[in-house]
Amino acid sequence: MEKRYELDRYAAVYAMRTGSMVSSEVRDLLSVTERPDIISLAGGLPYTQIMNGEMISTLFAKVMREECAEALQYGPTDGLARLKKEIAGIMAAEGLEVHPEDVVITHGSQQGLELLSKIFINPGDVILTESPSYVGALNSFVSYQPRMEGVPLDGQGLDTDLLGKRLRALAVSGERPKFLYVVPNFHNPAGVTMSMERRKALLQLVREHELLLIEDNPYGLLRFEGESLPPLKSFEPESVVYLGTLSKILSAGMRLGWFVAPAPITEKLLLAKQSADLCTSSLTQRLAHAYFATQDWRGVIEKLVQIYRRRRNTMLEALEEFFPEGTSWTHPEGGFFVWAKLPEYVNTKDMLAAAIDQKVAYVPGMAFFPDRSGANHMRLNFSYPSEEQIWEGVRRLSLVIKRELKLARSLGLADRQGPPTDAERTEE
Ligand SMILES: Cc1ncc(COP(=O)(O)O)c(C=O)c1O
Repeated sequence: MEKRYELDRYAAVYAMRTGSMVSSEVRDLLSVTERPDIISLAGGLPYTQIMNGEMISTLFAKVMREECAEALQYGPTDGLARLKKEIAGIMAAEGLEVHPEDVVITHGSQQGLELLSKIFINPGDVILTESPSYVGALNSFVSYQPRMEGVPLDGQGLDTDLLGKRLRALAVSGERPKFLYVVPNFHNPAGVTMSMERRKALLQLVREHELLLIEDNPYGLLRFEGESLPPLKSFEPESVVYLGTLSKILSAGMRLGWFVAPAPITEKLLLAKQSADLCTSSLTQRLAHAYFATQDWRGVIEKLVQIYRRRRNTMLEALEEFFPEGTSWTHPEGGFFVWAKLPEYVNTKDMLAAAIDQKVAYVPGMAFFPDRSGANHMRLNFSYPSEEQIWEGVRRLSLVIKRELKLARSLGLADRQGPPTDAERTEE
Protein backbone atom coordinates (compact mmCIF):
# COMPACT_ATOMS: atom_id res chain seq x y z
CA MET A 1 0.00 0.00 0.00
CA GLU A 2 1.20 3.48 -0.81
CA LYS A 3 2.48 5.33 2.28
CA ARG A 4 0.91 8.77 2.74
CA TYR A 5 2.75 11.57 4.43
CA GLU A 6 0.58 14.07 6.24
CA LEU A 7 1.20 17.13 8.31
CA ASP A 8 1.57 16.10 11.94
CA ARG A 9 -1.94 16.42 13.34
CA TYR A 10 -0.52 16.43 16.89
CA ALA A 11 1.77 19.39 16.25
CA ALA A 12 -0.22 21.66 18.56
CA VAL A 13 -0.07 19.38 21.57
CA TYR A 14 3.61 18.49 21.91
CA ALA A 15 5.56 19.94 24.83
CA MET A 16 7.77 22.87 23.88
CA ARG A 17 10.92 20.89 24.62
CA THR A 18 10.28 18.59 21.69
CA GLY A 19 11.10 21.57 19.47
CA SER A 20 14.70 21.44 20.66
CA MET A 21 15.02 17.66 20.44
CA VAL A 22 17.26 16.62 17.58
CA SER A 23 18.08 13.24 16.21
CA SER A 24 21.73 12.31 16.49
CA GLU A 25 23.36 12.68 13.10
CA VAL A 26 25.47 9.66 13.99
CA ARG A 27 22.38 7.55 14.45
CA ASP A 28 20.76 8.78 11.24
CA LEU A 29 23.90 7.90 9.37
CA LEU A 30 24.09 4.40 10.73
CA SER A 31 21.03 3.46 8.71
CA VAL A 32 22.81 4.34 5.42
CA THR A 33 26.07 2.79 6.48
CA GLU A 34 24.51 -0.58 7.20
CA ARG A 35 24.65 -1.15 3.45
CA PRO A 36 27.29 -3.84 2.96
CA ASP A 37 28.99 -2.03 0.08
CA ILE A 38 29.79 0.99 2.26
CA ILE A 39 32.85 1.10 4.47
CA SER A 40 31.67 2.85 7.58
CA LEU A 41 34.15 4.89 9.57
CA ALA A 42 31.08 6.65 10.94
CA GLY A 43 29.67 4.61 13.81
CA GLY A 44 31.16 4.15 17.24
CA LEU A 45 30.47 0.48 17.70
CA PRO A 46 32.54 -1.71 19.99
CA TYR A 47 33.92 -4.90 18.44
CA THR A 48 31.57 -7.31 20.22
CA GLN A 49 32.73 -10.17 17.97
CA ILE A 50 35.51 -10.63 20.53
CA MET A 51 33.07 -12.12 23.03
CA ASN A 52 32.79 -15.89 23.17
CA GLY A 53 29.15 -16.70 22.37
CA GLU A 54 29.39 -20.19 23.90
CA MET A 55 30.64 -18.76 27.17
CA ILE A 56 27.90 -16.09 27.26
CA SER A 57 25.19 -18.64 26.53
CA THR A 58 26.52 -20.93 29.29
CA LEU A 59 26.40 -18.02 31.74
CA PHE A 60 22.92 -17.12 30.57
CA ALA A 61 21.72 -20.72 31.01
CA LYS A 62 23.21 -20.77 34.51
CA VAL A 63 21.42 -17.53 35.47
CA MET A 64 18.12 -18.89 34.18
CA ARG A 65 18.60 -22.25 35.84
CA GLU A 66 19.52 -20.83 39.22
CA GLU A 67 17.49 -17.63 39.53
CA CYS A 68 15.00 -17.43 36.71
CA ALA A 69 12.22 -15.89 38.83
CA GLU A 70 14.50 -13.10 40.14
CA ALA A 71 15.96 -12.41 36.69
CA LEU A 72 12.42 -11.96 35.35
CA GLN A 73 11.43 -9.74 38.27
CA TYR A 74 11.78 -6.01 39.09
CA GLY A 75 14.83 -5.15 41.15
CA PRO A 76 16.11 -2.32 43.33
CA THR A 77 16.34 1.07 41.58
CA ASP A 78 20.02 1.47 42.47
CA GLY A 79 20.96 -1.91 41.01
CA LEU A 80 21.97 -5.45 41.92
CA ALA A 81 24.26 -5.34 44.99
CA ARG A 82 26.66 -7.99 43.72
CA LEU A 83 27.09 -6.31 40.35
CA LYS A 84 27.83 -3.03 42.16
CA LYS A 85 30.65 -4.86 43.92
CA GLU A 86 32.09 -5.98 40.58
CA ILE A 87 31.77 -2.43 39.26
CA ALA A 88 33.69 -1.11 42.27
CA GLY A 89 36.42 -3.58 41.15
CA ILE A 90 36.36 -2.15 37.61
CA MET A 91 36.62 1.37 39.02
CA ALA A 92 39.62 0.29 41.12
CA ALA A 93 41.26 -0.79 37.84
CA GLU A 94 40.61 2.79 36.63
CA GLY A 95 42.35 4.21 39.71
CA LEU A 96 39.27 5.11 41.72
CA GLU A 97 38.38 3.56 45.08
CA VAL A 98 34.63 3.65 45.67
CA HIS A 99 32.29 1.91 48.04
CA PRO A 100 29.97 -0.50 46.15
CA GLU A 101 26.98 1.07 47.91
CA ASP A 102 27.77 4.38 46.24
CA VAL A 103 27.47 2.88 42.75
CA VAL A 104 24.10 3.23 41.01
CA ILE A 105 23.54 1.03 37.97
CA THR A 106 21.80 2.61 34.98
CA HIS A 107 20.64 1.61 31.52
CA GLY A 108 23.92 2.68 29.96
CA SER A 109 25.79 5.85 30.84
CA GLN A 110 23.45 7.57 28.38
CA GLN A 111 20.72 7.18 30.98
CA GLY A 112 23.00 8.82 33.55
CA LEU A 113 23.34 11.81 31.20
CA GLU A 114 19.59 12.00 30.71
CA LEU A 115 18.88 11.81 34.46
CA LEU A 116 21.48 14.49 35.17
CA SER A 117 19.84 16.72 32.57
CA LYS A 118 16.49 16.09 34.18
CA ILE A 119 17.56 17.01 37.72
CA PHE A 120 19.79 19.99 36.87
CA ILE A 121 18.60 21.85 33.78
CA ASN A 122 15.88 24.49 33.74
CA PRO A 123 15.25 26.22 30.42
CA GLY A 124 17.81 28.99 29.94
CA ASP A 125 20.36 27.63 32.45
CA VAL A 126 24.00 27.86 31.45
CA ILE A 127 25.78 24.54 31.10
CA LEU A 128 29.34 24.08 29.91
CA THR A 129 30.73 21.36 27.69
CA GLU A 130 33.92 20.73 25.82
CA SER A 131 33.80 21.85 22.22
CA PRO A 132 33.59 19.45 20.44
CA SER A 133 31.71 17.10 22.75
CA TYR A 134 29.92 13.74 22.74
CA VAL A 135 26.83 14.17 20.58
CA GLY A 136 24.64 11.91 22.75
CA ALA A 137 25.30 14.15 25.75
CA LEU A 138 24.64 17.32 23.76
CA ASN A 139 21.34 15.93 22.50
CA SER A 140 20.27 14.94 25.98
CA PHE A 141 21.17 18.36 27.44
CA VAL A 142 19.60 20.32 24.59
CA SER A 143 16.21 18.72 25.06
CA TYR A 144 16.00 20.45 28.46
CA GLN A 145 16.57 23.81 26.73
CA PRO A 146 19.72 25.13 28.44
CA ARG A 147 22.07 27.76 27.09
CA MET A 148 24.98 25.56 26.12
CA GLU A 149 28.44 27.01 25.99
CA GLY A 150 31.37 25.09 24.53
CA VAL A 151 34.94 25.49 25.74
CA PRO A 152 37.52 24.52 23.09
CA LEU A 153 39.79 21.50 23.31
CA ASP A 154 43.35 21.19 22.04
CA GLY A 155 45.87 18.35 22.02
CA GLN A 156 46.08 18.48 25.86
CA GLY A 157 42.31 18.34 26.33
CA LEU A 158 40.06 21.12 27.63
CA ASP A 159 41.60 24.59 27.35
CA THR A 160 41.54 25.50 31.04
CA ASP A 161 42.74 29.07 30.43
CA LEU A 162 39.68 29.74 28.30
CA LEU A 163 37.48 27.93 30.82
CA GLY A 164 38.86 30.15 33.60
CA LYS A 165 38.10 33.28 31.60
CA ARG A 166 34.59 32.11 30.86
CA LEU A 167 33.91 31.18 34.49
CA ARG A 168 35.11 34.59 35.68
CA ALA A 169 32.92 36.35 33.12
CA LEU A 170 29.90 34.31 34.18
CA ALA A 171 30.62 35.08 37.83
CA VAL A 172 30.74 38.81 37.03
CA SER A 173 27.33 38.59 35.37
CA GLY A 174 25.99 36.67 38.37
CA GLU A 175 25.41 33.44 36.45
CA ARG A 176 26.35 30.07 37.86
CA PRO A 177 26.74 27.30 35.30
CA LYS A 178 24.88 24.19 36.39
CA PHE A 179 27.76 21.90 35.47
CA LEU A 180 30.67 21.23 33.14
CA TYR A 181 30.59 17.99 31.16
CA VAL A 182 33.95 16.42 30.21
CA VAL A 183 35.28 13.22 28.63
CA PRO A 184 38.89 13.28 29.89
CA ASN A 185 40.15 10.02 28.33
CA PHE A 186 40.28 9.27 24.58
CA HIS A 187 37.66 11.82 23.87
CA ASN A 188 34.64 11.16 21.68
CA PRO A 189 34.95 12.62 19.05
CA ALA A 190 38.33 14.37 19.43
CA GLY A 191 40.48 11.36 20.44
CA VAL A 192 42.54 13.48 22.85
CA THR A 193 43.28 12.86 26.54
CA MET A 194 43.32 15.59 29.18
CA SER A 195 46.91 15.99 30.39
CA MET A 196 47.82 15.85 34.08
CA GLU A 197 48.58 19.56 34.07
CA ARG A 198 45.16 20.36 32.64
CA ARG A 199 43.46 18.02 35.13
CA LYS A 200 45.06 19.93 37.98
CA ALA A 201 44.20 23.31 36.46
CA LEU A 202 40.60 22.18 35.92
CA LEU A 203 40.28 21.00 39.51
CA GLN A 204 41.64 24.32 40.74
CA LEU A 205 38.86 26.09 38.80
CA VAL A 206 36.31 23.61 40.12
CA ARG A 207 37.29 24.56 43.67
CA GLU A 208 37.41 28.30 43.00
CA HIS A 209 34.02 28.42 41.30
CA GLU A 210 32.25 25.58 43.14
CA LEU A 211 31.66 24.03 39.76
CA LEU A 212 30.02 20.63 39.44
CA LEU A 213 31.88 18.33 37.06
CA ILE A 214 30.40 15.47 35.10
CA GLU A 215 33.22 13.09 34.26
CA ASP A 216 32.22 10.62 31.54
CA ASN A 217 34.76 7.83 31.16
CA PRO A 218 33.56 5.09 28.82
CA TYR A 219 36.94 4.38 27.20
CA GLY A 220 39.35 4.68 30.16
CA LEU A 221 40.39 1.01 30.20
CA LEU A 222 41.07 0.97 26.46
CA ARG A 223 44.53 2.52 26.56
CA PHE A 224 47.00 1.51 23.80
CA GLU A 225 50.03 3.44 24.98
CA GLY A 226 51.27 5.82 27.67
CA GLU A 227 50.49 6.00 31.36
CA SER A 228 46.97 6.00 32.79
CA LEU A 229 46.01 9.28 34.40
CA PRO A 230 43.93 9.46 37.59
CA PRO A 231 40.21 10.16 37.21
CA LEU A 232 39.11 13.68 38.14
CA LYS A 233 36.81 12.19 40.75
CA SER A 234 39.78 10.72 42.62
CA PHE A 235 41.00 14.28 43.41
CA GLU A 236 37.71 15.95 44.22
CA PRO A 237 35.03 13.31 44.96
CA GLU A 238 32.47 15.79 46.29
CA SER A 239 32.53 17.93 43.13
CA VAL A 240 32.34 15.19 40.52
CA VAL A 241 29.63 12.91 39.16
CA TYR A 242 31.43 9.99 37.53
CA LEU A 243 29.79 8.03 34.71
CA GLY A 244 30.95 4.58 33.66
CA THR A 245 29.70 1.89 31.30
CA LEU A 246 30.05 -1.77 30.43
CA SER A 247 29.30 -0.95 26.79
CA LYS A 248 32.94 -0.80 25.70
CA ILE A 249 34.32 -3.68 27.76
CA LEU A 250 31.51 -6.24 27.70
CA SER A 251 28.38 -5.36 25.75
CA ALA A 252 26.61 -2.27 24.47
CA GLY A 253 23.50 -4.41 23.97
CA MET A 254 23.10 -5.23 27.67
CA ARG A 255 22.65 -1.47 28.26
CA LEU A 256 24.51 -1.34 31.55
CA GLY A 257 26.28 1.70 32.91
CA TRP A 258 26.61 3.39 36.28
CA PHE A 259 27.23 6.61 38.11
CA VAL A 260 28.92 7.54 41.37
CA ALA A 261 27.84 10.94 42.65
CA PRO A 262 27.94 13.01 45.84
CA ALA A 263 25.22 11.66 48.20
CA PRO A 264 22.61 14.45 47.79
CA ILE A 265 22.87 14.26 43.99
CA THR A 266 22.53 10.47 44.11
CA GLU A 267 19.32 10.89 46.05
CA LYS A 268 17.82 13.15 43.37
CA LEU A 269 19.10 10.95 40.55
CA LEU A 270 17.50 7.92 42.13
CA LEU A 271 14.14 9.70 42.29
CA ALA A 272 14.53 10.63 38.63
CA LYS A 273 15.46 7.07 37.74
CA GLN A 274 12.50 5.65 39.59
CA SER A 275 10.15 7.66 37.47
CA ALA A 276 12.13 6.93 34.30
CA ASP A 277 12.28 3.13 34.46
CA LEU A 278 11.77 1.82 38.03
CA CYS A 279 14.96 -0.24 37.80
CA THR A 280 17.68 -1.39 35.41
CA SER A 281 17.14 -4.78 33.73
CA SER A 282 17.37 -7.55 36.36
CA LEU A 283 18.22 -9.97 33.59
CA THR A 284 21.23 -8.26 32.05
CA GLN A 285 22.57 -7.24 35.47
CA ARG A 286 22.66 -10.90 36.50
CA LEU A 287 24.31 -11.92 33.25
CA ALA A 288 26.94 -9.18 33.63
CA HIS A 289 27.57 -10.20 37.22
CA ALA A 290 28.05 -13.83 36.19
CA TYR A 291 30.57 -12.66 33.58
CA PHE A 292 32.67 -10.44 35.86
CA ALA A 293 32.56 -12.91 38.75
CA THR A 294 33.71 -15.94 36.74
CA GLN A 295 35.58 -14.80 33.62
CA ASP A 296 38.98 -13.30 32.93
CA TRP A 297 37.54 -9.88 31.97
CA ARG A 298 40.92 -8.20 32.25
CA GLY A 299 42.22 -10.67 29.65
CA VAL A 300 39.34 -9.79 27.33
CA ILE A 301 40.12 -6.07 27.72
CA GLU A 302 43.76 -6.83 26.91
CA LYS A 303 42.66 -8.59 23.70
CA LEU A 304 40.40 -5.67 22.80
CA VAL A 305 43.26 -3.26 23.38
CA GLN A 306 45.50 -5.27 21.03
CA ILE A 307 42.86 -5.31 18.29
CA TYR A 308 42.00 -1.62 18.66
CA ARG A 309 45.67 -0.63 18.82
CA ARG A 310 46.35 -2.39 15.50
CA ARG A 311 43.30 -0.72 13.94
CA ARG A 312 44.32 2.68 15.27
CA ASN A 313 47.81 2.15 13.86
CA THR A 314 46.36 1.17 10.48
CA MET A 315 44.20 4.27 10.44
CA LEU A 316 47.10 6.56 11.32
CA GLU A 317 49.30 4.93 8.67
CA ALA A 318 46.54 5.21 6.05
CA LEU A 319 45.96 8.88 6.89
CA GLU A 320 49.69 9.51 6.54
CA GLU A 321 49.74 7.67 3.23
CA PHE A 322 46.62 9.11 1.59
CA PHE A 323 45.35 12.33 3.16
CA PRO A 324 46.42 15.45 1.26
CA GLU A 325 48.42 18.42 2.46
CA GLY A 326 46.41 20.88 4.53
CA THR A 327 44.73 18.15 6.58
CA SER A 328 45.65 17.07 10.11
CA TRP A 329 44.41 14.55 12.67
CA THR A 330 44.76 13.50 16.29
CA HIS A 331 46.84 10.60 17.58
CA PRO A 332 44.58 8.90 20.14
CA GLU A 333 46.32 6.93 22.90
CA GLY A 334 43.20 4.79 23.29
CA GLY A 335 39.47 4.65 22.63
CA PHE A 336 37.64 4.50 19.32
CA PHE A 337 38.18 7.70 17.32
CA VAL A 338 40.53 9.81 15.25
CA TRP A 339 39.45 13.42 14.70
CA ALA A 340 40.52 14.91 11.40
CA LYS A 341 40.66 18.56 10.42
CA LEU A 342 40.39 19.75 6.83
CA PRO A 343 40.98 23.27 5.51
CA GLU A 344 38.52 25.88 6.83
CA TYR A 345 36.66 26.17 3.56
CA VAL A 346 35.56 22.52 3.49
CA ASN A 347 32.15 21.64 4.91
CA THR A 348 32.26 17.94 5.80
CA LYS A 349 28.47 17.72 6.06
CA ASP A 350 28.07 18.85 2.46
CA MET A 351 30.89 16.54 1.41
CA LEU A 352 29.26 13.46 2.93
CA ALA A 353 27.04 12.69 -0.06
CA ALA A 354 30.14 12.50 -2.29
CA ALA A 355 31.80 10.20 0.25
CA ILE A 356 28.81 7.88 0.35
CA ASP A 357 28.94 7.88 -3.43
CA GLN A 358 32.52 6.63 -3.08
CA LYS A 359 31.17 4.04 -0.61
CA VAL A 360 32.76 5.37 2.53
CA ALA A 361 31.15 7.16 5.49
CA TYR A 362 32.32 9.33 8.39
CA VAL A 363 30.58 11.64 10.85
CA PRO A 364 30.67 15.35 9.93
CA GLY A 365 32.19 17.50 12.66
CA MET A 366 29.36 19.99 13.05
CA ALA A 367 27.19 17.61 15.09
CA PHE A 368 29.72 17.65 17.92
CA PHE A 369 29.87 21.39 18.49
CA PRO A 370 27.35 23.00 20.83
CA ASP A 371 27.28 26.05 18.50
CA ARG A 372 27.28 23.91 15.32
CA SER A 373 30.66 25.29 14.25
CA GLY A 374 33.57 23.02 13.31
CA ALA A 375 32.18 22.19 9.85
CA ASN A 376 35.67 21.36 8.57
CA HIS A 377 36.15 18.43 10.98
CA MET A 378 35.24 14.77 10.72
CA ARG A 379 35.17 11.86 13.16
CA LEU A 380 36.70 8.60 11.99
CA ASN A 381 36.04 5.37 13.84
CA PHE A 382 38.58 2.55 13.96
CA SER A 383 37.07 0.20 16.59
CA TYR A 384 34.64 -1.60 14.31
CA PRO A 385 35.96 -1.83 10.72
CA SER A 386 38.69 -4.36 9.93
CA GLU A 387 42.23 -3.20 9.16
CA GLU A 388 41.60 -3.82 5.44
CA GLN A 389 38.41 -1.76 5.55
CA ILE A 390 40.14 1.05 7.42
CA TRP A 391 42.95 1.23 4.85
CA GLU A 392 40.55 1.15 1.90
CA GLY A 393 38.05 3.48 3.60
CA VAL A 394 40.71 6.13 4.25
CA ARG A 395 41.95 5.76 0.67
CA ARG A 396 38.44 6.32 -0.74
CA LEU A 397 37.88 9.24 1.60
CA SER A 398 41.13 10.85 0.54
CA LEU A 399 39.92 10.83 -3.09
CA VAL A 400 36.77 12.67 -2.06
CA ILE A 401 38.76 15.23 -0.07
CA LYS A 402 41.27 15.77 -2.88
CA ARG A 403 38.41 16.40 -5.27
CA GLU A 404 36.84 18.87 -2.82
CA LEU A 405 40.15 20.72 -2.41
CA LYS A 406 40.65 20.83 -6.18
CA LEU A 407 37.17 22.25 -6.62
CA ALA A 408 37.84 24.88 -3.97
CA ARG A 409 41.12 25.85 -5.66
CA SER A 410 39.47 26.14 -9.06
CA LEU A 411 36.77 28.37 -7.56
CA GLY A 412 39.37 30.48 -5.78
CA LEU A 413 37.95 29.49 -2.40
CA ALA A 414 41.16 28.11 -1.01
CA ASP A 415 42.34 31.61 -0.07
CA ARG A 416 39.03 32.60 1.40
CA GLN A 417 37.41 31.95 4.80
CA GLY A 418 34.31 29.75 4.92
CA PRO A 419 32.96 26.81 2.93
CA PRO A 420 31.69 27.02 -0.67
CA THR A 421 28.07 28.07 -1.05
CA ASP A 422 25.53 25.73 -2.61
CA ALA A 423 25.50 27.89 -5.76
CA GLU A 424 29.28 27.60 -6.11
CA ARG A 425 29.09 23.87 -5.63
CA THR A 426 26.53 23.36 -8.35
CA GLU A 427 28.62 25.46 -10.76
CA GLU A 428 31.26 22.73 -10.83
C1 LIG B 1 31.49 9.73 25.68
C2 LIG B 1 30.34 8.77 25.72
N1 LIG B 1 29.50 8.80 26.76
C3 LIG B 1 28.46 7.97 26.85
C4 LIG B 1 28.21 7.04 25.86
C5 LIG B 1 26.99 6.16 25.99
O1 LIG B 1 27.34 4.87 26.33
P1 LIG B 1 26.33 3.82 26.91
O2 LIG B 1 26.30 2.70 25.95
O3 LIG B 1 26.89 3.43 28.24
O4 LIG B 1 25.00 4.46 27.08
C6 LIG B 1 29.07 6.95 24.76
C7 LIG B 1 28.80 6.00 23.68
O5 LIG B 1 29.37 6.00 22.64
C8 LIG B 1 30.17 7.84 24.70
O6 LIG B 1 31.03 7.82 23.67
